[in-house]
Amino acid sequence: MVLKGIYTPAEERYQRETIYARCGNSGVLLPKISLGFWHNFGGNDPYERSRAITHYAFDHGITHFDLANNYGPPYGTAEETMGRLIEDDFRPFRDELFISTKAGYDMWPGPYGNWGSRKYLMSSLDQSLKRMKLDYVDLFYSHRYDPATPLDETLQALVDIVRAGKALYVGISNWPLEALKYGHAYLKERDVPLLIYQGRLNILDRAPQQTGILDFCAEQGIGFIAFSPLAQGLLTDHYLRGIPQGSRMSRETSLRSSTLTPELRNTLLSLNDRAEALETELSTLAIGWVLAQRGVTSALIGASSVEQLKDNLDYLNGEPFTAEELYGI
Ligand SMILES: NC(=O)c1ccc[n+]([C@@H]2O[C@H](COP(=O)([O-])OP(=O)(O)OC[C@H]3O[C@@H](n4cnc5c(N)ncnc54)[C@H](OP(=O)(O)O)[C@@H]3O)[C@@H](O)[C@H]2O)c1
Repeated sequence: MVLKGIYTPAEERYQRETIYARCGNSGVLLPKISLGFWHNFGGNDPYERSRAITHYAFDHGITHFDLANNYGPPYGTAEETMGRLIEDDFRPFRDELFISTKAGYDMWPGPYGNWGSRKYLMSSLDQSLKRMKLDYVDLFYSHRYDPATPLDETLQALVDIVRAGKALYVGISNWPLEALKYGHAYLKERDVPLLIYQGRLNILDRAPQQTGILDFCAEQGIGFIAFSPLAQGLLTDHYLRGIPQGSRMSRETSLRSSTLTPELRNTLLSLNDRAEALETELSTLAIGWVLAQRGVTSALIGASSVEQLKDNLDYLNGEPFTAEELYGI
């Protein structure tokens, strides 16, 4: 039986102000490292492990947890885990947490459980709130661009969600630049400014820089949160000596073993040499690189154990890397 109300967060959790960054030109401060629930928090994962990871995060000032309707597996179960955590531990600390969720990808069967319609976004958020046992989320995202739904419909749904008090802020994830520009202007005109853009950014995948999205966010005062900053574990010591049992790649789901070509292995080994020369870990270098990029507010990591999270948060204990240290990466 899980005992409720016995979690006492570390008193010193807010001692280091430097671990927070302003999200664009908003009033919101986000931790420079945020925790995502995509993997490791679903119905097939041990609840006590998920619980220990979130406790460790919150105890170290990590106030932002990122979810989506279909995180699990099965779909919806990461939000159910969040709901259990709220009930068991975090209800007294709700106002200290910044919780996001999203809708946009496949969630339930039929024409209304996918993409960007008002029907989908509105009903999905209602479901998410029930699963997470929350009255509102801090941030609700359109999870992806839908070329078949008028942008105005998706964007107006975001506006109305805020007006209905179901989300405090809205965000956009994985939209192309032109649609992002349109969305930014649409939301601004309706006094529901776009808080943040969520996109994949890491040493191996620099698409938001190449497409101009990161520059646009920086220029317009929109925050940017970089997902998969460790390239799902590639940018750690995880895969330097093969494919560990139980790792994401060993499960052949979102990270395939075919990704790990000899060329990529060489790149990882030379990045690891760079990290060693700086007397740090590859994961720390990877997070530091992301946070050094113009316009980035937070690196949104995942972790399958407290030890991994601890390693990743270690970046926050030191100084940011200098331009010289990152030269050529
Ligand atoms: N908006 C979107 O479309 C989108 C897409 C993807 C992700 N996201 C968000 O971004 C979050 C993070 O994504 P991600 O999980 O891909 O991030 P990531 O930090 O790049 O990868 C996390 C994985 O890397 C491995 N890892 C992490 N730290 C490690 C360490 N110190 N040593 C060794 N291995 C380590 C673990 O893999 P093992 O599990 O193998 O141990 C862990 O599950 C998600 O939870 C979600 O919130 C959003």
